Amino acid sequence: MNIQKLIDTAKAMVADNKGLLAMDESYPTCNKRFAKLGIPETAEFRRDYREMIVTTAGLNESISGAILFDETIRQHLKDGQSFIKVLTDNRIIPGIKVDGGTVEMAGHPGEKITEGLDNLRDRLKEYAKMGLKFAKWRAVITIGKGIPTQACIEANAHALARYAALCQEEGIVPIVEPEVLMDGDHTLVRCFEVTEQVLHTVFNQLYTQGVILEGMILKPNMIVPGLACPTQESVDEVANATVKCLLHTVPAAVPGIAFLSGGQSSELASDRLNAMNLRFKSDLPWEVSFSFGRAIQQPALDIWHGKETNIQEAQKALYLRAKCNLTARHGEYNEEMEE
Ligand code: 13P
Repeated sequence: MNIQKLIDTAKAMVADNKGLLAMDESYPTCNKRFAKLGIPETAEFRRDYREMIVTTAGLNESISGAILFDETIRQHLKDGQSFIKVLTDNRIIPGIKVDGGTVEMAGHPGEKITEGLDNLRDRLKEYAKMGLKFAKWRAVITIGKGIPTQACIEANAHALARYAALCQEEGIVPIVEPEVLMDGDHTLVRCFEVTEQVLHTVFNQLYTQGVILEGMILKPNMIVPGLACPTQESVDEVANATVKCLLHTVPAAVPGIAFLSGGQSSELASDRLNAMNLRFKSDLPWEVSFSFGRAIQQPALDIWHGKETNIQEAQKALYLRAKCNLTARHGEYNEEMEE
């Protein structure tokens, strides 16, 4: 294992105030988003959509790395180049989602466990050969009556740590993503408690499995009230709670924290990221960055709509969202940027 290479890659993923673009939707997730807009749910349309994304001029001004799905790394642009080559040539580090998605956890109604450890070592070997430098594994924790259970948190944390150790063995930087979902009417305080417990458990497992903290990126949720909670705290309150929770749980050796957006609006995700960097950047031991999927892509997807004639406008929207989040990392984002 080349530890220095892992550390260099992890640092590069959060360098220069840039962030990650998650474009690794699985077949069902991508198809669900296409279906809402009446876009055909085919491999060719998924390819067209992702070509629109990676050929956006100037994307590398704000994006340091892109997370791809297995289907995409085996597809090509219309001009014959591979997605991995186009990204690499543009100095955007290519990464890959390697988890196999979530299933119901046995004996634990309402809770999920992420699958995909079987054969992962072999898959990682192939990915490393193809030029992929980092990977992502997402665990899902649901807040509800009586959940999450310790069983669910521990099982998911254990899988995340085993995945991370396997990645590092192949020289691939693991993005460790334990997502506490925003679904439900729970309060911000409840989200804090659960996220704190989850992150403690995850870092315990990472320690037990010997994962090199300097060679990984954490991808957590922000500390927010449930989408159906009647009390929705201000941007500053969310920033305060999120930073406090992370300071309680994330070792200083971790180079970067790159948030998921989790269903927040694009503007709110940028605003909250901005508030964290504006208020705390100089006091924090890690980079506070983004690894947004929907919060970067959604406006562009809505404009693209599956039509070639909309590509330019869609790319403009994508470029703007990426730029807004770069600016949020400086703590200099404001609403006027949206116009
Ligand atoms: P969202 O930002 O849309 O939550 O997606 C990020 C991601 O990669 C989820 O695994």
